[in-house]
Parts: sequence; structure tokens; C-alpha cells
Amino acid sequence: MIALGIETSCDETAAAVVETTGEPSVPWRVRSNIIASQTRTHEPFGGVVPELASRQHIRDICGVVTQALERAGVAWPDVGAIAVTQGPGLVGSLLVGVSFAKAAGTARHIPVMPVHHLAGHIESLVLEHGEIPLPAAVLVVSGGHTSLYLVPEPGQYRLMGRTRDDAAGEAYDKVARLLGLGYPGGPVIDRLAQGGRDDAVPLPRPKFTHPDRNRLPDELIRSTVDLTRGVAEFSFSGLKTAVLRRLDDAGGVDALSPQVVADFCASFQRVVVESLIDQTLLAAQVLGARCVGVAGGVSANSRLRREAVARGQREGLPVFVPPLSLATDNAAMIAAAGLRKFSRGVPATLEFSACATIPIF
Ligand code: KG4
Ligand code: ZN
Repeated sequence: MIALGIETSCDETAAAVVETTGEPSVPWRVRSNIIASQTRTHEPFGGVVPELASRQHIRDICGVVTQALERAGVAWPDVGAIAVTQGPGLVGSLLVGVSFAKAAGTARHIPVMPVHHLAGHIESLVLEHGEIPLPAAVLVVSGGHTSLYLVPEPGQYRLMGRTRDDAAGEAYDKVARLLGLGYPGGPVIDRLAQGGRDDAVPLPRPKFTHPDRNRLPDELIRSTVDLTRGVAEFSFSGLKTAVLRRLDDAGGVDALSPQVVADFCASFQRVVVESLIDQTLLAAQVLGARCVGVAGGVSANSRLRREAVARGQREGLPVFVPPLSLATDNAAMIAAAGLRKFSRGVPATLEFSACATIPIF
């Protein structure tokens, strides 16, 4: 089957063509993966402006889908299914993709499958590596999420824990702003960190001494792990505040030499990466996972990729990361997650709306 994936949950308008291979261990092949980034639109504002994002999606969606079909060498009659991100994300942005998918599905008589954005990030691992050993502990770490999922069976995703406050990508973006480095912060901090000393600025590791007051309701956590033990929990807002304090101690950002800015980047990145890897590997052990996955925009981070894989090798636990082209938001992962649902017998539907917040099951 040939599936068209559509992703418009935030500031990337994306469309991709993915086909099934018929080979159970490597179920899908990417035929095209087109992304129109809105970074330039939002850069002057230091973050995504939702209304501008929706308007840009409207301008871009038709061209992006046309390009995805052309690049894959397929025409509309070849497309057997459409998968579209239903949520979570910015509702105005999501609506553009969902409306396009429903309209195209209706006009062309093609089944439409709504997909959870984070299921897409998880399936990006399978797009690259083929089926991974299960149960898997998969960390989805992006601008909006830092959540750990257990994947017991193909297509089943159980939330085990998440950040108590900021997502890791959000912390990157906020710290980049504090350092006057522009938006999005992740890639620029990653780059500058390579020239900095990662022990130059003393920054604290988050500690979980109290139960989480914002703990998810029990029905949203299908967990065998007691989250109050802090096994699969993350926190980054204290780290961001600590960066702010150290900046004040140093006389403010304008007083910093480029080398000290690089030291700030490297020190911040070390704490984020260590905390992500330590918590994830600990949770994987507690859960008896056979492998670990790290997906989502922050999985593009060079230190996180390198250290997660190395740590897995040392501990005898395979660690999978997506290629850079599938780490940040894209529609190939959405097509894959849609094909996964089709293969599990989930019926296509037009009876759904875009949802800003939506549980994964
Ligand atoms: O998954 P994604 O594209 O969008 C969301 O679903 O949020 O993730 C975007 C996030 C941004 O916060 C961005 O700063 C971060 O991923 N990011 C990175 C890197 N590349 C993107 N963070 C750290 N290092 C990177 N190289
Ligand atoms: Zn994402």
C-alpha cells in the first residue's frame, strides 16, 4: 500500500509518501519526505506564533503535497491511504492538515487515518531501523514533550512518565533566548557547545525529592512503575533558572565573551543529556525493556545521539535513534504510524477533529 502522510502540528508543513514493503522485519520504505520549514517566519519573534503558523500552513500545504507525490513518482490514483496528525499540537495548524486530509480523502475516495504526533516520532525509529526488539522503552524528546513510552507490542504505546515542567527542547529554546542566540535554540546550542567546556558553569541536576503535584491522572498513565519514585521523570525548568542565575553572576549576557557563551552551552547541554540518558536507561531497566529508543526533535542533538548509543553499548542494551531527516517533525513518520494502525485493523474514519491535547491511546 502507498500512504500519503501529512503533518502540520507546529511550524513545519510536511507531506511524505511511504509504502509497505511486504517484509515484516522492515515494514515500510520512504519514497519522499518534503518539509517546508517556517523557521524564518517565526525567528523574529523568538518562538512560534500560532496564528502566523496556521496562515503559512494554508499557503504551503497544496504545494508540499504535490511535491511529495512528484518526488515519489506517484499520482493520486496510486495513493491507497492518507495519514494525518490529529494532535497534539497547535489547533489552528493541525486543522489545516486535518482539513486537507479529509477533503482529499473524500474527493479521491481514499481512507483517512488520524495519527498521534508522538506515535509518529516513535515509528520514525522503525522507518530507519526496521522492527526493534520489544518491549522497548522509547523517550520522545521534543519542543513540546519529554515523555517516556513503553512499547510492549507493535503499535501499542504506554505512557510511563514525562517531564514535570518544561520539555527538553523548550529548555533549549528558552536558554538560547537567555543567551541571545535566537530561535530555534536546540541546533545553535548544539553547535556552540562543541567549542565550550562542559564543566565550566556549575549547574544542578534535577532531583525528585517530592511527589509530582502535576502528576497525570491515573487513567492517562498505564504504568507498572510508580512515578513518585522518580524513575521515568524529567524536569528542566530549574536548570533554566540556574542558567539565568549564573548569567546574572557573570554580569549579564552582554558581558560574556564568545568562549564563555560556548561554555554555558556546553555545560547546559551536558546536564540535559546526562539527565535524559540516566532516567531513560534506569526506566528501561525497571521495565525490563529489550532496547531503548530516543526520538523527537531533540534526538537530533549530537551529544545525546553519541552518548545514548555509547552508553547502550556499554550496558549491553541496544539504543536506536532516527536519522536526522526523521528526528525533527516530518510526515514520513506520520505515514508510518498510520500504516501501523491500518496493519492492526484500526478502521479509517472521517469522524475526528484536530485536538490540541490528546492521549496516545
Ligand atoms: O519534534 P520537533 O521537531 O517538534 C516538536 O514536536 O516539538 O522538535 C523541535 C525541538 C525544538 O525545541 C528544537 O530546539 C529542538 O527540537 N532541537 C534540538 C536540536 N535540533 C532540534 N535540540 C537540541 N539539539 C539539536 N540539535
Ligand atoms: Zn514533534
